[in-house]
Amino acid sequence: MSVHSWFAGWVERKERYARTSEKFMSADRFGSIGVGIGLPSIVQKSTFSFRNVKDGADRFLGVSKSGEKPFARIYTRLGNPTTEYLEKALFQLDCQHIIDAALAADERKPTIASLVCSSGMGAISCTTLALVQSGDEIVCGNVYGCTDSFFRTLAKFNIKTHFIDTADTALVKKTLEENPKVAMVFLETPDNPTLCISDIEAISKLTQPRGIPLVVDNTFATPYLQQPFRLGADIVIQSLTKYVNGHSTSVAGVVIGPYEFMSDHLFHIYKDFGPTPSPFDSWLNGQGLQTLHLRMERACASAVELALRLEKHPKVECVHYPGLPSHPQHDLAKRQMRLPGGMIALELKDGYAPACRLMDYFASYTTPGELAVSLGSAITYFQHPASMTHAAVPEADRLKRGITDGLVRISVGLEGVETLWAAIDEGLRLAYN
Ligand SMILES: Cc1ncc(COP(=O)(O)O)c(C=O)c1O
Repeated sequence: MSVHSWFAGWVERKERYARTSEKFMSADRFGSIGVGIGLPSIVQKSTFSFRNVKDGADRFLGVSKSGEKPFARIYTRLGNPTTEYLEKALFQLDCQHIIDAALAADERKPTIASLVCSSGMGAISCTTLALVQSGDEIVCGNVYGCTDSFFRTLAKFNIKTHFIDTADTALVKKTLEENPKVAMVFLETPDNPTLCISDIEAISKLTQPRGIPLVVDNTFATPYLQQPFRLGADIVIQSLTKYVNGHSTSVAGVVIGPYEFMSDHLFHIYKDFGPTPSPFDSWLNGQGLQTLHLRMERACASAVELALRLEKHPKVECVHYPGLPSHPQHDLAKRQMRLPGGMIALELKDGYAPACRLMDYFASYTTPGELAVSLGSAITYFQHPASMTHAAVPEADRLKRGITDGLVRISVGLEGVETLWAAIDEGLRLAYN
């Protein structure tokens, strides 16, 4: 039975409007929504004047006369017009099919909403705090290091997390059957950094009858490659810092979810905890959206080619990339994703020492790319998850997840495949000299 008051109403709407047999919005429509009709101005203000006392009181009640978001015209911690533009565009990219279906059915109540936060972690932590309470339990897949450490911190508030491999649907089923206090399932797919794929549709069929919200972190895929609402997800999160921004110029995150959850639960946590994005960062992310589809196409095309070449390289032990037929969930990735993504992980023969030499090679100013964390930028990033993005994961869990000391993660950028391959090939040669 659901522990969440809004869940049953949402499930009924989800079945009518959100789940679809088509997996993706057409590339053309995606491009035109992302480009929009031009970016708004940057409303660099912290507060907004009211016309009179009644107008101010109405806005606090969430009443707006001219259709704009009332909370985006009070005080920027509650919302801002530049951020509102970004929220609308992001929401359309993931959910235009829901809007279309609800309008066609003459549905009057809003079904879904979005909220931009000052970081991906802000989006994840606020969503979690809005979903769980002391005594609840969480099921969490293989996730980014800070997400993992956030869920571990929640133990202090009597919230236990079951860390499992959600790519194993049977294990998700068993964990849910054995733990009736689970109030949220959280997963990344593809996951960070080993690129395992979880079956969103199959897992949603396990969570839905139990009244448990399924939260998907879609950062690696973006809505261009994967549209989790169509597959049955209940809440979708993205770190906008990555592919949406696309140029490593800001930090932000977004939550998209059922309207009632967003307005009655998430918004209260958000306004009181205060992870507010700056208007300028929202504007930068709006700009990033205009080219997201093109950058994803290019990054994926380069990643496919690099993964194929890396897999044949004599110094490479194994390559984790969902676009390779050797990837254990290759068929699922083909069903669930438009393209296999721009992230690759690889293990080098003899592990740690050559991996460090390869990364040090990319730290040089004379080579393309950088030795840096983050991902989804125009520039290619190389990094070492065990000592960087996933350093906070306890060693035993890290190794169980395949995050070995020899694992290198590459976020493939836009430099061009031949430029990147020439550098990687040379870096590998030097790593073994
Ligand atoms: C998959 C994933 N989710 C969430 C985050 C957190 O995002 P942010 O750094 O914007 O807080 C990251 C950051 O690397 C990530 O890789």
